[in-house]
Amino acid sequence: MASPDDEATGSSRSSIDPPSTDEVFAALRTVIDPELHVDIVSLGMVPDVSIDGGTVTVSVKLTIGGCPLRAEIKKEIESRVGVHPGVDVVRIDWGEMTPEERSEVMGRARRRAQEQAPETAVPARCRVIAVASGKGGVGKSSITVNLAAGLAERGSTVGVLDADIWGFSVPRLLGMSERMEAAEVDGRPRIIPNRREIGSGVLEVVSTGFLVEESTALMWRGLMLTKAVEQFLNDVDWGDLDYLLIDMPPGTGDVQMGLARMLPRTEILVVTTPARAAQKVAQRAADMARRSFLPVIGVVENMSAFICEHGDSYELFGSGGGAELASDIGVPLLASIPLEPALSSGGDNGDPVVLRSEGSAASALRDLVSQIVEQVAPPRDSDVDMSGCSARLLEAVAAALDES
Ligand SMILES: Nc1ncnc2c1ncn2[C@@H]1O[C@H](COP(=O)(O)OP(=O)(O)OP(=O)(O)O)[C@@H](O)[C@H]1O
Ligand SMILES: [Mg+2]
Repeated sequence: MASPDDEATGSSRSSIDPPSTDEVFAALRTVIDPELHVDIVSLGMVPDVSIDGGTVTVSVKLTIGGCPLRAEIKKEIESRVGVHPGVDVVRIDWGEMTPEERSEVMGRARRRAQEQAPETAVPARCRVIAVASGKGGVGKSSITVNLAAGLAERGSTVGVLDADIWGFSVPRLLGMSERMEAAEVDGRPRIIPNRREIGSGVLEVVSTGFLVEESTALMWRGLMLTKAVEQFLNDVDWGDLDYLLIDMPPGTGDVQMGLARMLPRTEILVVTTPARAAQKVAQRAADMARRSFLPVIGVVENMSAFICEHGDSYELFGSGGGAELASDIGVPLLASIPLEPALSSGGDNGDPVVLRSEGSAASALRDLVSQIVEQVAPPRDSDVDMSGCSARLLEAVAAALDES
């Protein structure tokens, strides 16, 4: 039974002091942006809070106006702030960030992720590049192994992580099939990558293909993809790598999120075909990056015009898709790799075409290797411009969505 005191409390909320601005900010610090995994205050999404009696108005700047997570953020803010006994109404004043603010937020989220990233067995000074695409079958694995082989040929120690856990193709593309061994390293059991020496460098390769037969790989479907990748990052004795290249599976959302958490310094190389289906691809690639805020270093167009022995060029898969995507997301088009039977047969024989002295695909791939080594500097935290970061991708998605 309610006592007279209880009734008085229930009917006179306004007699309770409203929260202070600090208290509201403290409550807002518990609201975590569902995509960036950092609280909205630290991200700079809350420029202002005003309190008028029991009414609290929170100004929130979204990364993009049409942010699909707006409802989720609203609900969180209302419940976290509204729980204070002195609050009757929570109002939200929505705004949208300028491109500069958006870049700043992405930078902050990335730094935060870097601070919070768990330690992995991947050496701190090694550059991590994940090869991804919006679509399957565009040549991610072929580009990954050729890039790795090209880097090794120049004398680097290159880790290759086949993150395509059940669709692995790296072992075949590199002509490697030995089982991976485990060994005790520094008192801990570790997976030892399979090695292949190339020129003065070496590849250290890890793939589920070294653990299971190709025909039984399907049984691994139930395995949590991200867990497997996590384990490869943690439990492999990578040694002292100069580069780690990651061959991403098609439809990479989960793995990419895992990488963003475990190895936030991962740079993304986006592979696309020349077909001008750029809008769709841009949306998918952009969506991945938006969810994981990993920096995109450039676009590689693969299966570009086939040049026949007479020098005639055939644009079997259209043209312009790579340039279009690169300009949409504001990153350089690093290479156009022609469609060439040698690339495919090299893959079948475990002989990356980049190691051949002749052929236009080989020279385009070598040029890509040089660009990665010499020109495409790894993004630094202090990069204010961050023109290749996902904030630009965000704009591209927003534009693409507006158009459609
Ligand atoms: N430039 C090229 N010229 C000729 N064939 C190519 C070229 N690039 C890739 N291929 C062939 O296309 C097929 C798909 O390539 P690959 O496996 O590298 O793509 P992927 O994006 O990794 O595919 P998935 O999404 O299934 O992992 C392979 O048979 C490969 O040999
Ligand atoms: Mg592949």
